[in-house]
Amino acid sequence: MVGLNGSGKTTLFKLILGLLEPEAGEIYVFDRARTRKNLWQVRQEIGFLFQNLDDQLFALTVWEDVAFGPRNQGLSEDEVEERIRTELGIVQMSDFRDRPVNQMSHGQAKRVALAGVVAMRPRILFLDEPFTGIDFPMVRRLVKIIEDPRNEDMSVLYTTHNRFFLENWADSVLVLRNGSVLYDGSVNEALAREDVLNQIGNWEHLKQDMIESRNRVRNIGYPT
Ligand SMILES: Nc1ncnc2c1ncn2[C@@H]1O[C@H](COP(=O)(O)OP(=O)(O)OP(=O)(O)O)[C@@H](O)[C@H]1O
Ligand SMILES: [Mg+2]
Repeated sequence: MVGLNGSGKTTLFKLILGLLEPEAGEIYVFDRARTRKNLWQVRQEIGFLFQNLDDQLFALTVWEDVAFGPRNQGLSEDEVEERIRTELGIVQMSDFRDRPVNQMSHGQAKRVALAGVVAMRPRILFLDEPFTGIDFPMVRRLVKIIEDPRNEDMSVLYTTHNRFFLENWADSVLVLRNGSVLYDGSVNEALAREDVLNQIGNWEHLKQDMIESRNRVRNIGYPT
């Protein structure tokens, strides 16, 4: 899912998860209307990585935070432990298991948050800007922990402002503009459309701007 700042991406996630209620219309999840009654069920089946991690991490320690989701699903404590060990190992946060969640760097916090939602083995994973602020080797690891369940039966809906992650990782794209769907379909077709490109920007234009600007400075020289 792509769109400019404020186009409604995070709001759409929150509506589906019942963190916000629509002023009009209805929300359908797995072909059923999402009501206040079945909200709990919906949240068992959808794992959500928040854009703002302050909304996500709240337990006292890293371990407890990752345990929260699977425990809520009613799994046995052995199963919960097994999953936490696996996921924390993959995101390389095992050594932090007893540390407070508020003492981690942004990237570390995101890795813990992702371990927590993947440990729930949800049918759908919502990822709001999953790779922003993550170092490159870790992006590769995160893609791997998402890809394994995705290749079995989990669907992933993620947001990005980075065209690389759109072109190389999405099977299809939803483009939002001012709170409405501008386009819903194939990535290649989307990237051939002018109105879509206006919403996601063109890296070539930025590159040209930068090159021209730096060249101007180099030719004129800095004021002394
Ligand atoms: N709690 C809120 N109350 C009122 N308006 C809000 C609230 N949260 C967001 N908005 C507004 O709703 C619109 C959509 O915001 P949203 O957070 O969904 O955008 P977004 O597409 O996720 O943007 P970004 O790329 O910056 O994350 C924006 O105009 C925003 O200012
Ligand atoms: Mg957002």
